[in-house]
Amino acid sequence: MERPAPSVQQPWRRASRLRKQPPNAGAAGSHERSPTVAQGEAHLIDGKAVSARVLEEVAAAARDLVARGVRPGLAVVLVGEDPASQVYVGAKGRAAESCGFHSVQHTLDAATSQSDLTALVEKLNADPAIHGILVQLPLPAHIDSSLVLETISPAKDVDGFHPVNAGLLAIGETGRALVPCTPAGSMILLHEAAKALGLKLSGMDAVVVGRSNIVGKPMAQLLLAESCTVTIAHSRTRDLPAVVGRADIVVAAVGRPEMIEGAWIKPGAIVIDVGINRVPGEGLGKNGKPKTRLVGDVAFEAARQRAGAITPVPGGVGPMTIAMLMKNTLTAAQRMAR
Ligand code: GUN
Repeated sequence: MERPAPSVQQPWRRASRLRKQPPNAGAAGSHERSPTVAQGEAHLIDGKAVSARVLEEVAAAARDLVARGVRPGLAVVLVGEDPASQVYVGAKGRAAESCGFHSVQHTLDAATSQSDLTALVEKLNADPAIHGILVQLPLPAHIDSSLVLETISPAKDVDGFHPVNAGLLAIGETGRALVPCTPAGSMILLHEAAKALGLKLSGMDAVVVGRSNIVGKPMAQLLLAESCTVTIAHSRTRDLPAVVGRADIVVAAVGRPEMIEGAWIKPGAIVIDVGINRVPGEGLGKNGKPKTRLVGDVAFEAARQRAGAITPVPGGVGPMTIAMLMKNTLTAAQRMAR
């Protein structure tokens, strides 16, 4: 287990979270530290509890909308029989129903043509009972995913993947955009962490590891909107440990199990782990097959010894994604009901 050396650790580890760090407590021992970042036992950010709260708020607001004659409607489109996609789509439908939404699922054959799929999307665009459309990814290889996503009306694009929504986010018009669910949920957890630690996000150094259109880039935009100083690191970044070691906020979204080492984390930093990776576990399960377990992109046990706050995997960012999908569907319905 990676811990700072006891001589460094003892004077400040049990000190108040808000106290300044000692001069030699950096990740690699040489980085500048922000006086805004404090040190203490890592606060665990409970994504399950926060997502349950979001879902309750969405359900309450949906009841208000229904009383005004509008029931939020979510259509989820699944092409093919990918088992993981089937699980995700099922969970989205159940969450929509639990929020009191009108929920429909369209399951299409894996051989569905591009034109049949876009025709369905256009039909959903024109359907007044549907406020949110989600086409589950990945799509079969013969389908151009970008073209399908661009067919979705930006006002119904509850994934926030349409270039119009990406553009609105990039110009800081978050109030008019539909924001991708995982980064939006990560931001709520980040605010929870900052509140628990008594910190302000403004001016903090944030490093997003991963540059995907779905997580890395929108996450960077949201952090920028909170006046963080944002770095996007990726597979070609030189000296990633040093880049991560400077960050007051680390968002890990690379999809590589436990790639971010605990020793890289600056003491007191907030760590948001977006990764959900299945890796071999120990021994055999009841079915006789080797056990597996879920881990994030961050080496959790080591990182929690240094971080000020950290999201666990599972139970951190994961549950927030579906909750934010419901929130986006509600938002889309509220905007259309105006
Ligand atoms: N596949 C995995 N995650 C997602 C997601 O957030 N949205 C869509 N549409 N497909 C996915």
